[in-house]
Amino acid sequence: MKQLEQEIKRRRTFAIISHPDAGKTTLTEKFLLYGGAIALAGSVKGKKTAKHAVSDWMEIEKQRGISVTSSVMQFQYKNYCINILDTPGHQDFSEDTYRTLMAADSAVMVIDASKGVENQTRKLFKVCVMRHIPIFTFINKMDRESRNPFDLLEQIEQELGIQTYPVNWPIGCGKEFKGVFDREKRHILSFEANNGQHEVKATEVDLHSPELDGLIGTENRNTLLEDVELLDGASDAFDLKAVQEGRLSPVFFGSALTNFGVEPFLERFLELTPPPLPRYAGGQEIDPYDENFSAFVFKIQANMNKAHRDRITFLRICSGKFERDMEVLHVQGNKKMRLSQPQQIMAQEREIINEAYAGDIIGVFDPGIFSIGDTVCSPGKRFEFEGIPTFAPEHFARIRHKDTMKRKQFVKGTTQIAQEGAIQIFHEPFSGMEEVIVGVVGVLQFEVFEHRMKNEYNVDIIREGLPYQYIRWVSKSPVPVQELHLSSDTKIVQDFHDNYLLIFTSEWNIRWALEKNDGLELAEFHKE
Ligand code: G4P
Repeated sequence: MKQLEQEIKRRRTFAIISHPDAGKTTLTEKFLLYGGAIALAGSVKGKKTAKHAVSDWMEIEKQRGISVTSSVMQFQYKNYCINILDTPGHQDFSEDTYRTLMAADSAVMVIDASKGVENQTRKLFKVCVMRHIPIFTFINKMDRESRNPFDLLEQIEQELGIQTYPVNWPIGCGKEFKGVFDREKRHILSFEANNGQHEVKATEVDLHSPELDGLIGTENRNTLLEDVELLDGASDAFDLKAVQEGRLSPVFFGSALTNFGVEPFLERFLELTPPPLPRYAGGQEIDPYDENFSAFVFKIQANMNKAHRDRITFLRICSGKFERDMEVLHVQGNKKMRLSQPQQIMAQEREIINEAYAGDIIGVFDPGIFSIGDTVCSPGKRFEFEGIPTFAPEHFARIRHKDTMKRKQFVKGTTQIAQEGAIQIFHEPFSGMEEVIVGVVGVLQFEVFEHRMKNEYNVDIIREGLPYQYIRWVSKSPVPVQELHLSSDTKIVQDFHDNYLLIFTSEWNIRWALEKNDGLELAEFHKE
């Protein structure tokens, strides 16, 4: 096998999605630990000790005076080269979180066993489904009281609309958590709590072994035998094709904190998850193993440091090999160029890299030439990858400049920041109002926007929060949009490209609009 093919085949690029606090950081850290990328679990964790988890980059970067929410961490595990994409949760949840999923080939969904499917998981899951990528479920915190595992699976199936296939099955939970039964190998991996951060002892025992009673107790054994019978009889057979098309999610139970079930999960996940997938450019399939280099921009991170106007642009490599100093074509700018200071995050450190392959993510310094979705490829090959959709903002505010003399800078600033994809801007087409409505996915984006307007464009803005929470693109309207029957608190707005959209204060109003306007079609994502 050629070196290029070997390198690409061993790559796995995935995102971990979850609601805040489900255990994404803890699981990521355990993966890094197995890969030998960090020495001790807990050594980089522990908000209490004022240290930060390796994937909590934003704060660290802020303290250094530059704000770069890194997009990816690379590490080696056995023969695999793994790229984990971070999907920032908490208050820095933003459109970037969604866009990051565009760069992934699969996703790991972490669910808190006591809570089940939560709001942010739902939102991120929708984006994964749109892309038909494989989704693996890790049901975490089994060392705590959990919901019934059958109920959890039912909730995933019903709420998210994906079939599930439990790869292992938990025996008890909380203080009574005894381990998991591996449905393929037909043995039990038993769990012994040891109060701590370190790896628990795992013992393998056959389901029908006489030792089992002693290990998990008669009652647990009886429940397990019943559960296993039920599962074997009722659940669908494992179907790899359905997994790879994102229709069936393999489910694993475990506890990231106590390191139970993490390595078996990682191993099975790496076997089942695909290496870099082909991407599409105007209907043409771009094969990752093609010798010609190609990549697309999925994220742009502006620098909050006033002294440095540079931005960092993140590229997902889709085919071939990247070499430092190679000449590439920026298709949308129609310019040949060399990517400057290409860097990659290797576990904890940012490194200038000399080469990277399809599946990898690189960050390059950008003087302001790239936009989200742009294609970069070997000169001589010219194509454009399919664009990244625009995601629905959930917070809206009306903004204007404090000082009327600053109108020009205000327009320039809002337009440029919107072009970068850091905010979305809208105007009200039939109102005669000149003000701008800003929409964001995460509220922190408002602050970043205000900060940048002041520091980069020298404009103070006045922001007035609006009560809207939902936005839909009008894909089809039976009448001119201004003639639609809408509730009094629904507003018609227009984006950059003059597309019409409706903003609503509640889901009820969306249903109302659809009911009152026969033939009206609304979309939650939008592709130019
Ligand atoms: P996130 O990135 O998804 O937001 O979650 P994170 O890993 O930070 O975990 C959130 C909290 O849940 C942390 O506790 C973490 O220790 C705990 N946790 C994660 N996995 C497990 C698990 O398998 N079992 C149990 N019992 N707890 C788990 P914290 O107190 O908020 O933070 P810390 O003080 O421990 O850092």
